[in-house]
Amino acid sequence: MNDVQFRLRTLVALAAVGTAGAVLAAACGGSGAGNAAVNRTPGVAQSSAPIVRSADDTTLVAVNSESDSISVFSNDAGNITRTAEIAVGRDPQSVALSTHPRRAYVACSDSGTLDVVELDARRVIRSIEVGREPRAVVLSPNESRVYVANSVSNSVTEIDTNSMRILRTVAIPESVDSQPRALAVTSDGDFDDTDERLFAACFFAVPRPPRTGLDEAQDDQREGRVAVFTTADLAPQPTVTLEPLDDVNFNSNGSVIDFVGTINGAGGVNAPDPANPAASTPSSAFPNQLASLAIHPTNGKCYVVSTGAQPNGPFAFNTNAQGLASVFDVATGFEVVSPERSNVVHQRAPLNLDSGLKQDTATNPVLFHTLPTGMAWTPDGSEAWICIQNSDVLVRLVVDVDGIPTVNAPIINGGSSIRRVDLQSARGQIACKAPQGVVIDRAGQHAFVLGFVSRSVSVVDLATSEIVDSEASSAQPPVGSLDEKINLGKELFHSSRGPDGRMAQESWGTCSVCHPNGLTDGLTWMFDAGPRQTIPLDGMFDHANLADQRILNWSAVRDEN
Ligand code: HEC
Repeated sequence: MNDVQFRLRTLVALAAVGTAGAVLAAACGGSGAGNAAVNRTPGVAQSSAPIVRSADDTTLVAVNSESDSISVFSNDAGNITRTAEIAVGRDPQSVALSTHPRRAYVACSDSGTLDVVELDARRVIRSIEVGREPRAVVLSPNESRVYVANSVSNSVTEIDTNSMRILRTVAIPESVDSQPRALAVTSDGDFDDTDERLFAACFFAVPRPPRTGLDEAQDDQREGRVAVFTTADLAPQPTVTLEPLDDVNFNSNGSVIDFVGTINGAGGVNAPDPANPAASTPSSAFPNQLASLAIHPTNGKCYVVSTGAQPNGPFAFNTNAQGLASVFDVATGFEVVSPERSNVVHQRAPLNLDSGLKQDTATNPVLFHTLPTGMAWTPDGSEAWICIQNSDVLVRLVVDVDGIPTVNAPIINGGSSIRRVDLQSARGQIACKAPQGVVIDRAGQHAFVLGFVSRSVSVVDLATSEIVDSEASSAQPPVGSLDEKINLGKELFHSSRGPDGRMAQESWGTCSVCHPNGLTDGLTWMFDAGPRQTIPLDGMFDHANLADQRILNWSAVRDEN
């Protein structure tokens, strides 16, 4: 719920007589508007996230996926204090917050439930069974409905917030296993929640017609998909398709496989040159791992951040994966595409968030934006901030009058106006590690960022880019404990900076670039030894007997094993 900006609600009407709310609800727009009566003005567009704030900014709630709980924080102009930690189901991934009543709706992935938490009573009052591995939840603008994305069931569930009953569950159209993991709902500015659009971003890219499975492992073989539903009855609308970026501005040394499916032998067209000369072949990337949807408050466009994959070899650290921002028109569902618009900064759609970082001589060290996990607009839409999991960075994105995005990374070597916050850097504050969600306050002054590995929330003053406060969200692993070792492993796996300097050159990549959540990106990678599908790491051992582990990396084609 990145962009919540409800105005102060009118409590007077409710306090007067119990029926006043019902009268107002009836006046304000019929079915589904029950809770709307408490808001003087209609709510705004919403996005799913693992950290949210209340409409009046005084409360923040974050999920603790490691400790099966949510944490509640009070917020006083950027000073945050943790006031409660409340147990919920297993592996909470996303949370939405209603104003009246003060409830948190928590998508618990491993439990397969939407847990409804009464914040003042500090307990779960209802645990609603939804689909398998729900990983995103969002409230409709006026809080009458709550939507859940069931990742593994490949479906979306709609729940009435008054009755807390499931109204319907609808499959993601056109794809079997693309796994919705981010949601957003429009607001047209009225009290009726049944005339909006619900967007569900599918985590995994799918083959892009006319490409099929036979074209596997090409850098433009797939496209991103965002499913669209009306909120009246979750009727599926035409799916938004997000095309590959044709030139990511990092050249490769040829390609292992061509569109026609030919493996490029030595000397063939575009074949990798064994002498490894200066890379000169432009490379593409397609949106995969769609992580967050952020509807702009005024320009009618929705922004999608993803990790763009370039599975075609030969491998080089800078032509494997890129952080991408794609744009689509909310009303038409068509992708907004634009070539570069400027001679000074990279500004285009889709945008490679990594383009130009090497040309920027002012921002040191270079920390690439490969794994964007969350994005939020300031309420006036003047800027958005994106959190980058692999490099512990928050970076600013702005758009022109046509909504075409830039992070102000320069095209030619020199200084730049990139605004970046190194979330590890603050003195006297907790170093935020593996950020997975960001939310911005009503005034657009502070961003609140949730660190998955650091188990903490950091507060960034957006005017100065300073980290002004931080709090633990859940307990740190005890020193010397097994949990501490496991958490160190998580840092190594999810970070390209690591606990001790850089894990990857210029913080480019990390294991979770291809093994999100320790599992798989769903792709085939074209290694020198041939095509290889990413193996989910829970396939390394027997789930019933964890000690029963198979021989790793055995392959007859690898003589070194
Ligand atoms: C460029 C994408 C990519 C990155 C980055 C990556 N992997 Fe993998 N991983 C793969 C692919 C593809 C396979 C399957 C390899 C095969 O079948 O030979 C795999 C397989 C594995 C396996 C299973 C081996 C087996 O035999 O079951 C493990 C363990 C593993 N990776 C761990 C890691 C770790 C740890 C990191 C980070 C240091 C990492 N991977 C980074 C793509 C990647």
